[in-house]
Amino acid sequence: MSHSSRIVYLNGQFLPVEQATVSVMDRGFLFGDGVYEVIPIFNSRFFLPKRHLQRLKRSLTAVEIDFAVDEDQLLALFEELLQRNTEQGDTQVLYVQITRGAALNRDHLFPEGVKPTLFAQCTAVKPLTEAEMRQGSHAITVQDTRWAWCYIKAITLLPNVLSAQHARQVGAREAILLRDGVALEGCSSNLFIVKDGVIITPPANYQILGGVTRDIVLELARSNQMPVKEASVTENMLRHADEVWMTGSVKEVLPITQLDDKPVGTGKVGAVWEKMQRLYQDAKKNLIQ
Ligand code: PDD
Repeated sequence: MSHSSRIVYLNGQFLPVEQATVSVMDRGFLFGDGVYEVIPIFNSRFFLPKRHLQRLKRSLTAVEIDFAVDEDQLLALFEELLQRNTEQGDTQVLYVQITRGAALNRDHLFPEGVKPTLFAQCTAVKPLTEAEMRQGSHAITVQDTRWAWCYIKAITLLPNVLSAQHARQVGAREAILLRDGVALEGCSSNLFIVKDGVIITPPANYQILGGVTRDIVLELARSNQMPVKEASVTENMLRHADEVWMTGSVKEVLPITQLDDKPVGTGKVGAVWEKMQRLYQDAKKNLIQ
């Protein structure tokens, strides 16, 4: 991977990353006033891009950023960006961020006549191999200190950043966020548990980000007659689950085999995960061909 030649997109231009700069007055910088999406690229193909763009639209609407998402136009732009970065390999992620733009002065109120800032980049990622996933992962629990509108993919990620770093420091791969005795999701992933053969995931309300991967897992479970429900997962349910999984665009369906200092179930990846992993990988293969 060549760092110096990575090309990014900023407000209408394709530029080497070192030359892409935004104003200090950008509201993303001053207020964290923006939203984003992360779209995985497998086999040099965008994976489920329309679902991510639908969510981007929902986030923009929720924070009243006046940016009309033209799906075909944005996808063409992303494709061009990918074509300019092929030397990074065929597995990457596209990051797109839209802020409310740069006004002349810092003022909490929305500025008038200011164009949103549009930034996009493709970067290489190295997802875990199936063999690595199969070894199981460690997750910790932390209190959820985020705001109340977690369904918005907002760039204000300080609680997520702090919890992710804390997890890393204790050798864990994810932190599961608990609020009022209820387990909600990870710092950058959704949560599933399995109890007595039933797959359970917290409902996609304002307390979590409704993940694209979460939706695919739910759809696969339902279409393959696997018992599944969207229901609140209490801390007690989490701690007594037979299996715990965390899902995300790059993490895919990650089996958690250690929660804090205790094994999950048998401490090995579970049979229901095995089945879902096959369904997910097959579905992915079909979708990226
Ligand atoms: N995060 N929950 C949160 C809080 C997330 O930030 C993410 C994704 C997910 C999973 O969503 P999806 O399945 O659509 O990737 C759930 C991205 C990857 C990030 O912030 O980098």
